[in-house]
Amino acid sequence: MDVLTAIRGRRSIRSFKGDEIEPEKIEVLKDALVWAPSAGNLQSRFFYFVYNDDVKRRLVGAALGQGFILEAPLVVVGCADIRRIAVRYRERGVYLYCIEDLACSIQNMMLAAYSEGLGSVWVGAFHENEVAGILEMPENHRPLAIVPVGYPDEDPVPPERVAHKDTVKEVF
Ligand SMILES: Cc1cc2nc3c(=O)[nH]c(=O)nc-3n(C[C@H](O)[C@H](O)[C@H](O)COP(=O)(O)O)c2cc1C
Repeated sequence: MDVLTAIRGRRSIRSFKGDEIEPEKIEVLKDALVWAPSAGNLQSRFFYFVYNDDVKRRLVGAALGQGFILEAPLVVVGCADIRRIAVRYRERGVYLYCIEDLACSIQNMMLAAYSEGLGSVWVGAFHENEVAGILEMPENHRPLAIVPVGYPDEDPVPPERVAHKDTVKEVF
């Protein structure tokens, strides 16, 4: 699948079939995560791949009851690594670069998932401290995205996008 087809066709999926994800597809997802760009190539990010239903249930609680998290066979929790980035980039690294690094990885993974026939959704509404506690994270990991991944059980209508003219100013 070419990149533009993936960019246009990917949708947020909030309903999943029970089918497991094949191990080789999980490797594709990991590859997409690590090959994203990052500030200074420090790769200031870390990912928890959660397959355990009890852990998923607790993540639902931390994510304001977003129950579809439990439906997905895989839940990826993406973190910024605030220690790794701080060593070189100090404050700007911590409040900006590591967050951007993580976002690049997650978008890569969501596009790769789509190209493999999988669905996913970025869940950003959750209590960070609770998620960090559930996964027993070290202090340098800041959880920023919960991403359930699985075979889609819905085919959502694409939500509208702003017109190019309302979001791009061309400067010649
Ligand atoms: C930073 C971020 C946080 C989001 N948080 C949530 C969330 O907590 N729950 C949810 O159902 N969707 C969440 N979404 C998904 C958006 O609602 C979705 O991307 C948007 O409506 C556009 O739909 P599309 O992804 O199908 O193009 C989030 C997306 C982003 C990028």
